[in-house]
Amino acid sequence: MALRSRARCPATGQGFRLNQASYTSNLMLTSDRPQTYRAAAASDPITRWLLMVAALVVVIVVVGGFVRLSRAGLSIVEWDVVGGVIPPIGQAAWEESFAEYQQTPEYLLINEGMSLGEYQRIFYYEWAHRLIARIAGLLVVLPLLWFMWKGRLTARESLPFWGVAALFGVQGAIGWIMVASGLRDRPVVSHFRLTIHLLAAVLLLGIALWMALDRIRNATPADSRAANNLSTTSRVLSWALMAALLVQLAYGGLVAGLKAGYISNTWPLMFGRFIPSGLLTAYEPWWENLYQSIGSHWIHRWFAFVVALLAIAVIVSTRRDGAGAPVSTALNWLLGTVITQITLGVFVVLLGVPKWFALAHQALGVVMFCILLVVVHAAVPPRAPSPQVVDPRS
Ligand code: HEM
Repeated sequence: MALRSRARCPATGQGFRLNQASYTSNLMLTSDRPQTYRAAAASDPITRWLLMVAALVVVIVVVGGFVRLSRAGLSIVEWDVVGGVIPPIGQAAWEESFAEYQQTPEYLLINEGMSLGEYQRIFYYEWAHRLIARIAGLLVVLPLLWFMWKGRLTARESLPFWGVAALFGVQGAIGWIMVASGLRDRPVVSHFRLTIHLLAAVLLLGIALWMALDRIRNATPADSRAANNLSTTSRVLSWALMAALLVQLAYGGLVAGLKAGYISNTWPLMFGRFIPSGLLTAYEPWWENLYQSIGSHWIHRWFAFVVALLAIAVIVSTRRDGAGAPVSTALNWLLGTVITQITLGVFVVLLGVPKWFALAHQALGVVMFCILLVVVHAAVPPRAPSPQVVDPRS
């Protein structure tokens, strides 16, 4: 579907053909190239689409967090992608839906005696969550079809983008598998599944952002790319920070899934001690404690400082390298968000996990990941933009 144009190799004078998408994204003359990263992002619809996908993932994570903290995530007992768009209509339909919910362990063990009105409230929270995810799915797929229709992407070039769309669908399926784990014997979703759901969202977000950053970097002039040539120390430290942040996010998921935030409302002491008794001995073998309530909570509250120290090391090292924008800007934001995130985390503990604090804490954790990705992306040396040459005989 892509338009093809003839070009001549400046070195050999030999003619070759380029398809339009590769030509515009990879062979822009320096003078035609947007001068800033922001202009580069704004001028390319595919980059804008990738950034929108990333933003949608953040929105859905936050909405999902709101539903979880409102204890509404287990209110819809079936998974009907098309039919589920319409909520029950009329008294009879609501009563039927409520009757199904009354069979679930959540109703029997926690919400027994709940009124229909209360059920409708939690139903609508979860229904809105799923509706937003469905709309987001369409916002992911429809523009992609449009790009192909308009010849901006050939079928082959579209494959990685379809990969992103597929991951979006997989994320929805993981969400359902997670919810299903709470509809059986015990009204709690598996903390491992919740953590996988969170990490899969972070992975999807990371892939979409990375692809956008690649396109932005290819579209900006070489001299602005060179401004971010980072030393080996900065590269290693940025990757170490990314690994540490992912561990911290995973532990955030475990703490949330285990409701371990509620077990202690003191900081820095936990159960009156820095190192609570039973930290590594409550469960056998000892390593099982690493993913149980006390262990997860304790590791999450202190590992944050490992993240903070690594963030400071990255900032010092990249400043020494004289990194330009966007790395320097990203690092200023990173410092601000690490400090805010730790403060928020402490308040979440001290105040007994209030909904809006916990939600802000979850959202900021994901935002931190996005900011750090900009730095890590700059730590990977840019590939020379190569025109996709089409065989002249074809
Ligand atoms: C770099 C610092 C931190 C990051 C990136 C981070 C990230 C996160 C994330 C993403 C979650 C939510 C997971 C989810 O809802 O699926 C979470 C939960 C939580 N975090 Fe942190 N956190 C950090 C520091 C802290 C600190 C210092 C504390 C306490 C002193 C803390 C206490 C908590 C608690 C109690 C929860 C569970 C809240 C709930 O039940 O919703 N966090 N964290």
